[in-house]
Amino acid sequence: MDLQTLRNDTPGCTLHHHLNNAGASLPPKPVLETILHYLTEESLHGGYEMAAKYAPEIAGFYDATARLLNTNPKNIAFAGSATDAYFRGLSAIPFEPNDVLITTDDDYVSNQIAFLFLEKKFKIKLVRAAKLPEGGVDPQSIKDLIETHRPKLVAVTHVPTNSGLVQDVESIGEICKKYDVLYLVDACQSAGQIPLDINKIGCDFLSATLRKWLRGPRGAGFLFASDKVLNLGFEPILPDMAAGVWNAPDHYELEPSAKRFEQWEKNYALVLGAKKAIEYANSLGLDQIEMAVTSLGDYTRAQLSTIPGVRLLDKGNRKCGIVTAYFEGKSPQAIKAVLEAANINAGIGNTNNAYIDFREKGVEWALRLSPHYYNTKEEVDLAIEALSGI
Ligand SMILES: Cc1ncc(COP(=O)(O)O)c(C=O)c1O
Repeated sequence: MDLQTLRNDTPGCTLHHHLNNAGASLPPKPVLETILHYLTEESLHGGYEMAAKYAPEIAGFYDATARLLNTNPKNIAFAGSATDAYFRGLSAIPFEPNDVLITTDDDYVSNQIAFLFLEKKFKIKLVRAAKLPEGGVDPQSIKDLIETHRPKLVAVTHVPTNSGLVQDVESIGEICKKYDVLYLVDACQSAGQIPLDINKIGCDFLSATLRKWLRGPRGAGFLFASDKVLNLGFEPILPDMAAGVWNAPDHYELEPSAKRFEQWEKNYALVLGAKKAIEYANSLGLDQIEMAVTSLGDYTRAQLSTIPGVRLLDKGNRKCGIVTAYFEGKSPQAIKAVLEAANINAGIGNTNNAYIDFREKGVEWALRLSPHYYNTKEEVDLAIEALSGI
């Protein structure tokens, strides 16, 4: 990858050192131009008319996403966010009282809250698998729990929001397949930084957002739904006319493809921006992207570890571009202030974002630096210099 070309393509690079890509990354020019162009077209010629005119381009969103995931366009649904996508998949699972849902300590906060709601409302049982000593869920624990509980669903977040951990979603997928258990993967923080192959992961649902590592717009995400769940007739709770055709007074015909998980009304400027962002990532190559991001993440960790009083928090055998650290005796406000003064964008997480993980690590907050492939070592060095001064 030619770093200078990539930076020239990213106008925000000239304004800030953006190390907050796990929050939302800076989109490349073609993504912004696509969105602005479509909004202009809509404003001049009408929203329905432009949706019809651009139908082939809009269909390209499903092709690009299928290519990203090594699957088929009919298995892809557009969504308004990762959570929107995730909840549509989760809501389709026919839970009954006493059904068991197995998850991990590191699954995303909103997913955990939804599981707790399902426990409260539908009397399911939530069970969290044990971790490996080095961090990350132990696939053997998932296997043991499946044998004991015969769960309805296994749900795993590939990369948590507040740590550089990469969960072994492929091994867990093999286990789920062996025991024929439904498997839901939250790929919000991995889509766009790590190659995702549905055939290797073997999941029934996978959700992601566009605004993070895929460098797309806010307000866009997607859901993958497997042939298995489509053929079983799974549909989201409260489907609308995207999910089926009302062809008799008391009947609707379910949409055969994963589009049944969408809502009819969409922001097509964002669908096209999402398509462009995914095509951009596909053309760079996810293997190349992962190599660049991981290497900058490793560099960031190594540099941070040279600052006295800094504790690196990322665990697990495999780590990604999310780098988290705690600064003994310093306040998150002081950290944020020095970074802002140096024109560096970064994130600060707190216990409510990762309750179990942060309690185990004995921290109430953590700095999150998340460099993308368009960032440079010099930008990381600037952050380290700023942070060394507090
Ligand atoms: C791991 C993970 N899952 C899900 C989400 C939710 O994504 P969204 O805000 O697009 O719903 C996030 C957001 O930070 C995340 O980090």
